[in-house]
Amino acid sequence: MQAECFQARREEVFRVTKRLIELSVNGDRYEVAVQSHWTLLEVLRGELGLTGTKEACDMGTCGACTVLMDGKPVLSCLILAVEAQGTQITTIEGMRAEDGKLHALQEAFLNCGAVQCGFCTPGMILASKALLDENESPSEREIKKTLAGHFCRCTGYVKIVEAVRSAASAKGSMTNER
Ligand code: FES
Ligand code: FES
Repeated sequence: MQAECFQARREEVFRVTKRLIELSVNGDRYEVAVQSHWTLLEVLRGELGLTGTKEACDMGTCGACTVLMDGKPVLSCLILAVEAQGTQITTIEGMRAEDGKLHALQEAFLNCGAVQCGFCTPGMILASKALLDENESPSEREIKKTLAGHFCRCTGYVKIVEAVRSAASAKGSMTNER
């Protein structure tokens, strides 16, 4: 009984300390009640059910939680949900075309064998998308620089870089600078 009262009081405190914010994610608008300390990652996964964005280190060191904010890659575990108001967020769920066709990067990751457990893949793909949106023909060095800070425990990175090169090649010619 005491525990139930405590729980009820706690929920009441949480309720009154929540605030309603508007988020734009993958072109959809959401109104969501959040606490001011909730991260964008918590809200994407826990409130919006967009679990394609992965939670790993939760401290900004692995890249798994990367999403695009106004087209730029950000670590959603280090961004407060309230800070994301007024921006356009893109998650891995937003990469598919409306007709369900995979994005060229998603195809390339599959075709090149750059996905094993897949835990790092959404972050890798979104960071690579930001790169290719700015530079259709990145060098291998530029790809590696973009993906620095994205940890993959499975693939050894070679196939991931190959996948980004392959997606870039599909869009245009690519320099061979190393
Ligand atoms: S979960 Fe955000 S950087 Fe690792
Ligand atoms: S595919 Fe498993 S961590 Fe990258």
